[in-house]
Amino acid sequence: MPARPSHKDPIAPTGNLSGRGRRTLWLTVTVTVMVIAVVTLAVAQQLHKHQAMKSRLLMAAPDDIANDRELLDYARRRGKVAYGQHCAACHRSDMTGDPGRGIPNLVDADWLYGTGRVGEIERIVLYGIRAGHSKTKNLADMPAFATSSPYARYTIEPLSPREVDDVTALVYSFKHPEAVDKEAVARGAAIYHGKGLCFDCHADHAKGDPAIGAPNLTDDIWLYGDGSIKSIKEEISHGLAGVCPQWVSRLAPETIRAIAGYVHAARDGKVGTDD
Ligand code: HEC
Ligand code: HEC
Repeated sequence: MPARPSHKDPIAPTGNLSGRGRRTLWLTVTVTVMVIAVVTLAVAQQLHKHQAMKSRLLMAAPDDIANDRELLDYARRRGKVAYGQHCAACHRSDMTGDPGRGIPNLVDADWLYGTGRVGEIERIVLYGIRAGHSKTKNLADMPAFATSSPYARYTIEPLSPREVDDVTALVYSFKHPEAVDKEAVARGAAIYHGKGLCFDCHADHAKGDPAIGAPNLTDDIWLYGDGSIKSIKEEISHGLAGVCPQWVSRLAPETIRAIAGYVHAARDGKVGTDD
């Protein structure tokens, strides 16, 4: 005998709901509505928190971010992603730079410009270095001493090949005092403090000038090359003027500030695989 729909089926062929069917449906609807409400609330709370952190980041004085744990954490999370997208191709994802291309390490204690405060880094990200913006860092270049007209900004005399060798010996001697001819070093020092005007940019003590981006020549951190005699000689001969792009017109202000916070925090060894 063919089975016939039982009288007690939850959904009768007519489409009417039985008592239990109605209860099940009611329960399903209630639970669904509650889940949607809870999820919406959670998303709204997250959005609200994100908005609040974003405005705090924008309102803060840049250098204060470094001392505000919660804000710094937010900047680091946000800045890490943006750094990966916009900076890592040059400065590398671990921020160690590339001396083959004159790209500085951002996690050592040596800054070309300033001292690594959030506000200083932010300014570089905003306007760049030799990047064409009116507020870009662009106060000095390294002259090309082996050319007939070494410097475009003002007159600096060329150096003869012998003079280049002598001043190279001087720079090399800062880290390797025993390895170079003392007389060449003495002649190099005379050029450093005289005709070459090296002191004018790298300072009398040769420790550089972070106001104009002239590197320290006495440490073992090289913006370019490997610190060998060959590489120092090339730098003095051919001149240098590295470019870091400006982002003011391409990234949101809070993204730029977050990147600055992230780079600043990296100096203290706070960048890793932890988040
Ligand atoms: C096209 C390659 C390139 C990209 C992309 C780039 N930079 Fe640079 N950056 C450089 C170079 C080259 C210098 C050194 C300029 C000089 O010689 O003065 C530099 C310098 C800097 C400095 C100064 C370091 C110091 O020691 O004072 C900071 C800070 C910096 N970059 C941060 C960033 C950040 C953050 C980003 C991403 C938003 C970025 N850069 C993207 C090439 C790049
Ligand atoms: C007008 C300013 C100026 C003068 C004068 C000058 N320099 Fe420089 N020098 C710079 C700047 C700026 C840089 C960094 C270039 C860059 O960021 O691309 C530099 C870079 C260098 C570097 C590369 C350092 C590194 O870490 O890789 C050496 C070496 C150097 N200078 C030596 C000398 C010597 C020696 C003299 C004198 C014969 C001299 N400089 C004169 C401004 C100057």
